[in-house]
Amino acid sequence: MKKLGVMIVGPGWVAGQHILSFLGNDESEIRVIAGVLPEDEARARGYMEQYGFQCDFTDDYESALERVDVDVVAVCTINHLHFSQSLSAIEAGKHVLVEKPLCFDMKEARVLVDACLKQGVKTHVGHVVRFYPAITGLHNFVRRGGIGEIYYCESDYWHEIIGAWKVRNETGGSALLMGGCHAIDMVRWILGEENQISEVFAYSTPARRRLDFEYDPTISVTMKYENGAIGRVSTSLESNMPYVFHLQANGTKGTIRNNGISSEWFPGTNAFMEIPAVYPDDWDVSQHPFPQEIDYFVSCIKGDVESDLSIPKAAKTYEVIFAAELSAREGRPVKLPLSS
Ligand SMILES: NC(=O)c1ccc[n+]([C@@H]2O[C@H](COP(=O)([O-])OP(=O)(O)OC[C@H]3O[C@@H](n4cnc5c(N)ncnc54)[C@H](O)[C@@H]3O)[C@@H](O)[C@H]2O)c1
Repeated sequence: MKKLGVMIVGPGWVAGQHILSFLGNDESEIRVIAGVLPEDEARARGYMEQYGFQCDFTDDYESALERVDVDVVAVCTINHLHFSQSLSAIEAGKHVLVEKPLCFDMKEARVLVDACLKQGVKTHVGHVVRFYPAITGLHNFVRRGGIGEIYYCESDYWHEIIGAWKVRNETGGSALLMGGCHAIDMVRWILGEENQISEVFAYSTPARRRLDFEYDPTISVTMKYENGAIGRVSTSLESNMPYVFHLQANGTKGTIRNNGISSEWFPGTNAFMEIPAVYPDDWDVSQHPFPQEIDYFVSCIKGDVESDLSIPKAAKTYEVIFAAELSAREGRPVKLPLSS
């Protein structure tokens, strides 16, 4: 069977895991790595040597999009480049896997969604947390009714992020775009993406200990669902503690709490039953389930199926983020869908 030709753009930290994952996927082949910074060629060649493969390197990403042997582009550059590089790739007719965050505002999200619908390519936004075995198992359990009707779900992303581009408005974006987007995606996924969020309220607070942040690194978001359920997310990127990804969902028949389950389906237990599967508890990308995510996206392309995290679907998560940021700026609840 013909292999999918892959271009990786941005051979930095996370790209190493994309490269390893594509190398482990029999239906794809890395054909080119595109760089942005002067040091990117050495980084790309370092990955080739480390992982024992060969491909082309280019510093001309836009021209490389014309290559007919490139079917898929994995956008692994830093945040502010995702919108323009994804758009160019979609317009060139390539399938696109874009790292989070998708983009920086609703206008960009709409442009990307329109481009996807026009070109009919497959896309996927890198909300890799969904692919942890414990999270996938919990999702299956709640979707099958294991905790009944969910009326409350919360998720938190607490971490200390370090790096000049990550703390700047222009290149990092915001606390939700840098990290909290994983938690917003999780609440939407566990509560059921078919359920609509009608209103968002958020507060944010400026940095206290890490004074290099240009944006407020701490934000708390409450989401009102049309069916009456409540979602809640907080993130702090200057947390003085080890990395934590927290998840809880309360339902009429039980509760999930991190990798624990309490359910009427398992009567007679007084404690949360721990799922013996990997839960997101490490910030290091080498521990993230990128192989599962990339295998899934390749299977979507090969099977001509839309990813559950396609740009049109994931754009809903970003609409919540932009509504929350507007709410925190203006100190008022913001209704969805956003009008501008
Ligand atoms: N899904 C996840 O859990 C996860 C984890 C880590 C990172 N990420 C995302 O992956 C992306 C890359 O993160 P990373 O830590 O690998 O980044 P990085 O600092 O290693 O840089 C990646 C690439 O971006 C480009 N770049 C870096 N700095 C630049 C600058 N100042 N100007 C222009 N281009 C620049 C270069 O091509 C570089 O090789 C980010 O968007 C990040 O949010 C996602």
